[in-house]
Amino acid sequence: MRKNRRVLVGITGGIAAYKSPDLVRRLMDRGGDVRVVMTEAACEFITPLTLQAVSGHPVHRCLLDAEAESGMGHIELARWAEIMVIAPGTANFIASMANGKADDLLTSLILASEAEIAVAPAMNRQMWQNPATQDNLQTLRRRGVRIIGPAEGGQACGEVGLGRMSEPDEIARELLGDGVPKLLTGACITLTAGPTWEAIDPVRGITNRSSGKMGFALAEAARDFGAEVTLISGPVALETPSGVERIDVVSAQDMLDRVQEHIGNTDMFIGVAAVSDYRPVLSAENKIKKDRDSMELKLIRTPDILRSVAEIENPPFTVGFAAETERIDQHARSKLVSKKVNMIVANNVAGKEGAFGNDYNTVTVHTHDKSMSIDRNDKYGLSVKILEIAVSLWKKQ
Ligand SMILES: Cc1cc2nc3c(=O)[nH]c(=O)nc-3n(C[C@H](O)[C@H](O)[C@H](O)COP(=O)(O)O)c2cc1C
Repeated sequence: MRKNRRVLVGITGGIAAYKSPDLVRRLMDRGGDVRVVMTEAACEFITPLTLQAVSGHPVHRCLLDAEAESGMGHIELARWAEIMVIAPGTANFIASMANGKADDLLTSLILASEAEIAVAPAMNRQMWQNPATQDNLQTLRRRGVRIIGPAEGGQACGEVGLGRMSEPDEIARELLGDGVPKLLTGACITLTAGPTWEAIDPVRGITNRSSGKMGFALAEAARDFGAEVTLISGPVALETPSGVERIDVVSAQDMLDRVQEHIGNTDMFIGVAAVSDYRPVLSAENKIKKDRDSMELKLIRTPDILRSVAEIENPPFTVGFAAETERIDQHARSKLVSKKVNMIVANNVAGKEGAFGNDYNTVTVHTHDKSMSIDRNDKYGLSVKILEIAVSLWKKQ
């Protein structure tokens, strides 16, 4: 993590502006030197005074401000910034950026700067899905603007879907990193994540509630540790962490095939995916009609991906996850032994507080010598701790 990076936070007029002071704090916690610019609309949602107090510097608002121009004017501020992050980024502001407008201070700064530019969009899900917004985002991506998020979930307008601004800590981490040690520089890590889908017919299948968040967080952390990361993912609704090679698969067999393609170049394999244990013996070609009162589905075991990796000659350092609902640590330890892996991370997936879909969790790491509990943390924080344990064990081999 480079200290004292000069970060300009641009706040635009969305409801998520209430999260912007938190973003400023978190950027400062990571060593950022932060200045704030607000659009006129943003000042309707949160006061410049709050941002001034949090950042410790006056907030910039007006383009045509003679006083400011004699001090830190727009060109000076544009030159000062190493990173500009617009958070929240409204649909309107994203449209202005895409069109190269310069009708207020923030748009002018963006046009006048050579800084790295990032946007954390925040809007109602319909506004997000609108082709106009999507086209504008595509334009920005093409120009090298980094789009962070948005996240999925409940929105201020009462709807549920994609469009929530990413959490401030996540944005700060994307921009300034976490200062994690580069313990995996030069190593190739292959991970699996998410559920698998075993088709019953073209529209139905057997799957599970895995969201993929843990595997994606581990991929992100492994990248930050300096590794080259390949992420083989079942069907999930998550954005690929930047710098990570993602391969999408559907069934357990697809996942195994892709793992086998990559395993020869892998130093560490982490099987986070919740792979279906069984699949239908037959998958109907056409949708099955409900013309019978009952039906039986004959199931057959799917391949055991973790075991197959651990059993190859000269296997990579292999880490498995055990998602359990009861006697969690007992099941995890027996998996560690029976599958001959180096390490198992036990995950409680029972009930509402369980790991599936949640952003926070607690886990226990089991190695052949000992067990270690990792306190409740977000999944990135857990990933850093899990990787530290894995790397120290791997290096001792
Ligand atoms: C209560 C309220 C909440 C709003 N929230 C959002 C939002 O979350 N995202 C968005 O894109 N626009 C939102 N808008 C619309 C913007 O405020 C509007 O497009 C404004 O012109 C944005 O100006 P700016 O992009 O220059 O900051 C909201 C409007 C109101 C009245």
